[in-house]
Amino acid sequence: MTIKSVLKMGEPLLLDVAQKVEQFNTRELDDLIQDMQDTMAVLEGAGLAAPQIGVSLQVVIFGFEENQRYPDADEVPFTILINPELTPLSDEKEEGWEGCLSVPGMRGMVPRYRQLRYQGFDQYGGVIEREVDGFHARVVQHECDHLQGILYPMRIKDFRTFGFTDVLFPGEEG
Ligand code: NI
Repeated sequence: MTIKSVLKMGEPLLLDVAQKVEQFNTRELDDLIQDMQDTMAVLEGAGLAAPQIGVSLQVVIFGFEENQRYPDADEVPFTILINPELTPLSDEKEEGWEGCLSVPGMRGMVPRYRQLRYQGFDQYGGVIEREVDGFHARVVQHECDHLQGILYPMRIKDFRTFGFTDVLFPGEEG
């Protein structure tokens, strides 16, 4: 069990485009994913991207049953997604609140595609392909943005919606 420290906004590595994973089912990849899972669990994140723990590879994990940081969000199955590709299924976007472990204590309203298909691989090289919408689609877009060096504040359209969680949502954690 290794809890890694999460890099915070301002760290140059968070702005890099992550490298594709070339080899699956390796000890290194398993260790990375285990560290990510341990770190995400302790911090109660909805997702985590490898660059957030300082590893510039195209690996994201996400999913939760109930999440204190997002008490109203629908369940998202726990997923390990490597070398992801996202394809929006319509131009329709919707605004929703997001936070990020790399931007602690803050939330903002971010427009995201409502419906998309994502493809990628699990840690063994097995193909993952899903069509999703709503919060599931939002989480995937947020996590995959990390692999392109994009943090959610860079997507905010109306900065009047960007603020501290304890002010925006008194009584909630995170
Ligand atoms: Ni994030």
